[in-house]
Amino acid sequence: MPEIPAGDVTKGAAIFKQKCTQCHQITTTGVHKQGPNLMGLWGRKTGQAPGFAYTDANKNKGITWGEDTLWVYLENPKKYIPGTKMVFAGLKKKKERADLIAYLREATQGKI
Ligand code: HEC
Repeated sequence: MPEIPAGDVTKGAAIFKQKCTQCHQITTTGVHKQGPNLMGLWGRKTGQAPGFAYTDANKNKGITWGEDTLWVYLENPKKYIPGTKMVFAGLKKKKERADLIAYLREATQGKI
């Protein structure tokens, strides 16, 4: 388990808006953009957003999304899931990743 710094939810929300909303919503509408709606992601296995056409690579990764898995994935998505169709280079800065994950923990569970 890597050392994950404490994250700031408000800063994470701003990072999500800047880097992820182009392709993802986190809403109960179930509406997908280029990427799946991320509501319910926390604690769920890969590739489970209803009605989204995932690649087999994403669907079959088979890990559970949480702090530790998002930490590795968001640093370099294509390295963690070879064959993913998510076009995102990755967040290399640890503090930014920690902030984003703190936000995702709240938002994907519908807490904010
Ligand atoms: C250019 C569009 C794009 C951007 C930008 C993008 N994503 Fe994605 N994302 C996708 C696509 C498309 C998939 C589905 C990948 C597949 O099926 O191979 C995906 C999949 C995911 C998954 C896996 C979902 C699951 O149910 O298994 C997570 C988590 C995720 N993205 C988070 C993020 C976060 C956080 C950001 C911002 C840092 C981000 N993405 C930026 C398009 C994008």
